[in-house]
Amino acid sequence: MLKTHNCGELTAADIGQKVTLAGWVNRRRDHGGLIFIDLRDRWGLTQVTIDSEASPEAHAAAAQLRGEYVVQVHGTVRARPEGFENPNLATGAIEVIIHDVNILNPAKTPPFYIDGRDADSVDETLRLTYRYLDLRRARMMNNLVLRHQLVRAIREYFSARDFLEVETPILLKSTPEGARDFIVPSRMHPQKFYALPQSPQQLKQLLMVAGVERYFQIARCFRDEDLRADRQPEFTQLDLEMSFVDASDIRGLIEEMLIEVTPLLSDKEILAQPFPVITYAEAMAKYGVDRPDLRFGQTLFDLSAIVAESEFGVFRNAVANGGQVKGVVYPGGADLTRREIDELTDFVKHYGAKGLAWIGVTDAPDADGVYGDDALRSQISKFLSPREISAIVQSASVEPGDLILIVADRPGVVAQSLSNLRLEIGKRADLIPQDKLAYCWVVDFPLLEYDEDEERWQAVHHPFTSARDEDWQYLESDPGRVLAKAYDVVLNGWEIGGGSIRIYRSDLQDRMFKALGLSSAETEAQFGHLLDAFQYGAPPHGGIALGIDRMAALFAETSTIRDVIAFPKTAAGTDLMVDAPSPVTDAQLKELHIDVRPVKTKSNQPAG
Ligand code: AMO
Ligand code: AMP
Repeated sequence: MLKTHNCGELTAADIGQKVTLAGWVNRRRDHGGLIFIDLRDRWGLTQVTIDSEASPEAHAAAAQLRGEYVVQVHGTVRARPEGFENPNLATGAIEVIIHDVNILNPAKTPPFYIDGRDADSVDETLRLTYRYLDLRRARMMNNLVLRHQLVRAIREYFSARDFLEVETPILLKSTPEGARDFIVPSRMHPQKFYALPQSPQQLKQLLMVAGVERYFQIARCFRDEDLRADRQPEFTQLDLEMSFVDASDIRGLIEEMLIEVTPLLSDKEILAQPFPVITYAEAMAKYGVDRPDLRFGQTLFDLSAIVAESEFGVFRNAVANGGQVKGVVYPGGADLTRREIDELTDFVKHYGAKGLAWIGVTDAPDADGVYGDDALRSQISKFLSPREISAIVQSASVEPGDLILIVADRPGVVAQSLSNLRLEIGKRADLIPQDKLAYCWVVDFPLLEYDEDEERWQAVHHPFTSARDEDWQYLESDPGRVLAKAYDVVLNGWEIGGGSIRIYRSDLQDRMFKALGLSSAETEAQFGHLLDAFQYGAPPHGGIALGIDRMAALFAETSTIRDVIAFPKTAAGTDLMVDAPSPVTDAQLKELHIDVRPVKTKSNQPAG
């Protein structure tokens, strides 16, 4: 070993010991006769001191050191002089007085300060190009550690419960799971392609047919979809499947795992145990999304019935056209300036809303419960009757000082704009407790949703999810009414996992494919293996997959999963460090029997 100790472990208990340390020069301070170096390795920083009088040769070598040089030093641990201790540093009580400096490798000046105070203001493009330098920073190194601990705790939890971790292929067959596949040309089979799995979904189901009964895998998944802060083209799931279980068994097992693992990774408190269980319909009604952030209230309320006959055309017409009028309260918002309200209006317009109506409640109602003109401030009160106004204010259950914000539109637009407005209010009014973790389950999702563009029904989760027993009868006659045996687990407004009880009989799976508009030939070509397998004694089964990247990001308290992935891709799907994707040689293409056409447009580039 080139070192006897790491840079994070020496304390007052080691005073007098002879040690050898090795690492990177984090910072060098030259005080003439004395040179101080903060030496860094994965475990921390140690101050080493070189005295020109005591060790002239070591001092001369130390004078050449610059930031990020790799160096080995030999010396003796001593107490820092009184007043120079650093209580913020694990090694802050000591320093190592050096008698020998061995430069192992010089370094170019890095493109950004590795340990600079403003490291997070460094352009992410630069960080990703020099990711190996970015990862040297304590915050990033801690994220790698946290992710390792998360995966390790998960493996231990399931191993202790008799689950088998089974690896499934990366080179597989193109299957529809909602996103686009990444495809890989086959050299040995001209004009044929493998696809990278969007998840091991079908394989884990086949493992159930095989009799594994309890399977899990830390599985890499690949999806060619538009990227966001919480989406990467390749990402990692805790993938799980069990036989002879129902939905509550899977939920119970995962909930127990999360309750056990969370405190290992986060100091934050889990807000509610057992986790609240909310139906999809309730989530959409109260929060406008299927992944509600339950750290705060401000639930949405429906005003459609109140304003259906209103004089105010915007509201009346929205309801008449099958839309909705819904509101949310901004606590203490009655005295927002016009500019602030305009900002909120622009905010909802971003989500498709045509406007934002507002009623500020400035005072209490009179003795009869009626809000007089001077108790309200609103741009729409002149269009509404006093009865409508009091009904709206009552639905909102507001206090004087609050502001009611209302959107009228198609249900989709109302949900989009108000769910995001609710989060914005949470931020602006500081309603979100940052020290809490709010887990919840969302259940009773619809099985199918109608795709207007493709003019056919699509699986909300995936085509292997079972309908509720009582709903199978409506699959053909009223597909939109069928609810699924599906569940999502949500943390602080992020969907961290989703799963379902599966179809395990080939006749039902066949009906499902038909409902999705697949012909027998398509079904046979894409899913023949699964339908076949179901005829050889498939057990009832179900499972779930949790996004490891998203969980790690939430525990690491960072807003993007890129920060918890060692070598992530940019929002445009590129790797800036190795420059991928990149062209290949003509010889490679020839071997693959591929002719490439010139690019016509840039429309196939995902938006940045
Ligand atoms: P689903 O598609 O819901 O289910 O994925 C499960 C979880 O994986 C995470 N996730 C992602 N994380 C980062 N980047 C992405 N592009 C990305 N896509 C998904 C999310 C999500 O909740 N086979 C089913 C699971 C099952 O039914 O058992 C599946 O993959 O946290
Ligand atoms: P208008 O009659 O279009 O001038 O709208 C009157 C007020 O209602 C304006 O302040 C708009 O911001 C608001 N408004 C317009 N359209 C909507 C809508 N779809 N939902 C909520 N408020 C709206």
